[in-house]
Amino acid sequence: MKRYNTEEDLQKIQSLEQTIGKESRQSVYALGYHLMPPTGWLNDPNGLCQVGDVYHLFFQYAPYTANGAGLKYWGHYETKDFLHYKYTGVFLSPDEDIDKDGVFSGSALVEDDTMYLYYTGNVEHEGDYDYTTAGREGNTILVTSKDGLTASQKQCLLRASVYPDSLSCHVRDPKVFRHGNLYYMVLGARTRKDKGCVMIYTGTDPRHFHFSQFIETKEPFGYMWECPDIFCLEDHTFLSLSPQGLKSETLRFQNTYQSGYFSLPTKVSSDEKIIFDSVDSDTFLEWDMGFDFYAPQTFLDNKGRRILIGWIGNPDAPYTNPTIEENWQHTLTLPRQLFWDADISRILQRPITEICHLRKEKLSCDISENSFSLPICSELLIDTFKNEDFKLTINHTLFLQYECATSILSLSFQETSHTILDKTCAKGYGRTTRFAQLSAKGLTKLHLFLDASCSEIFINDGECVLTTRFYVPDLKQHKITCQKAEFIQAFSLQHFTYEGL
Ligand code: FRU
Repeated sequence: MKRYNTEEDLQKIQSLEQTIGKESRQSVYALGYHLMPPTGWLNDPNGLCQVGDVYHLFFQYAPYTANGAGLKYWGHYETKDFLHYKYTGVFLSPDEDIDKDGVFSGSALVEDDTMYLYYTGNVEHEGDYDYTTAGREGNTILVTSKDGLTASQKQCLLRASVYPDSLSCHVRDPKVFRHGNLYYMVLGARTRKDKGCVMIYTGTDPRHFHFSQFIETKEPFGYMWECPDIFCLEDHTFLSLSPQGLKSETLRFQNTYQSGYFSLPTKVSSDEKIIFDSVDSDTFLEWDMGFDFYAPQTFLDNKGRRILIGWIGNPDAPYTNPTIEENWQHTLTLPRQLFWDADISRILQRPITEICHLRKEKLSCDISENSFSLPICSELLIDTFKNEDFKLTINHTLFLQYECATSILSLSFQETSHTILDKTCAKGYGRTTRFAQLSAKGLTKLHLFLDASCSEIFINDGECVLTTRFYVPDLKQHKITCQKAEFIQAFSLQHFTYEGL
């Protein structure tokens, strides 16, 4: 067998992590409590799971370049508490014929303390191909691992040639779960007619899968569905995915590509197999209304929590990140616990409770003063006056505005979000304005997480979230101005600690 990436390549990567990576961790933009790539580029979270008391967080990793152009590997962080992390290096390399052009995204199933890690082996044939209808393979591959350090031999479970003929070459991102005695694999796909859909494969063991059905919308809903995930909250089943090709609207689908979830109707057949119905595109709700969010994945931990982690980034976005010049790009969200809220028919997202342990010091914020400073790593909680407009400014750069009459919240790099003053939006590196339509109760609570160059803003206990990168050169403290609040509380936060970096 031809080996594509050798021991020597791994040593080269390690040395980049120790040299270039070390430098990027000194940057003013380096993140205190969001996971950065050890060097180069990071995208989707992969293989999220808990084995014993260890959480495993794999991620799409292109160590050689910060612009995402290089080969994709899987990197691996582990943690017991989401505060102290260990980076253990590259876990999967594109080193065989079945995955030589990238170990793409995938998921974990845990059985008997062993991780079954399913991923897509990307293969691009040499020749004059469009790589959409021809020239590409997305093989579904399995490795097992006890520890996220060493992997078993790769086993190709589904060669690209076995996928249904109606599909293009874009088939990827297996997510596997078990229900009763059956294993279900959901795979994202693009049909030859450019319609996004997912496929369900089922099996009676974790190594053998057979095609079972498609799940799609009646009318096309984008041309490709990436990173699918099926999970339950209380008695409801959901299909999460990252569709590409949705037409932008003022209040929806504002980024280049989206991520969100459908309610997924199911029935159980006489042999106990779950049959999934088609989904209704009107029920699609977006996970995050900020500029930088894509390809989230969920997992169930040993406490029974459904936890979501997303990529703080968006592919092919018309905005940039100056960290490319420092040879690194992108980060992951804080882990968010999901809750079903039947009253507003939405999934709520809240940072997992462990994040409270990052709190160092309670800071005094005088409500009567409308401007104050916060440390680079901090958390800000605000209760607003109900039925009133509200405005908050971060570093004279980022403007959060709520308009009571319409219940619309905007996050903007321009002071007046309704008039485009600066089309290039230099302060946002091309990021302009995003809007979020809140539910009828309006804006009651804001929970902001501020890091050196990113912010996650949770609204009304998780009804809506807005995530964005921002860049303020020479930032020493965050300068906040805030208008009329009923209650303000702030905390300085500790940095994550790392072993292995
Ligand atoms: C989503 C995605 C996946 C793919 C991976 C490659 O961001 O395009 O569909 O597996 O990234 O890095």
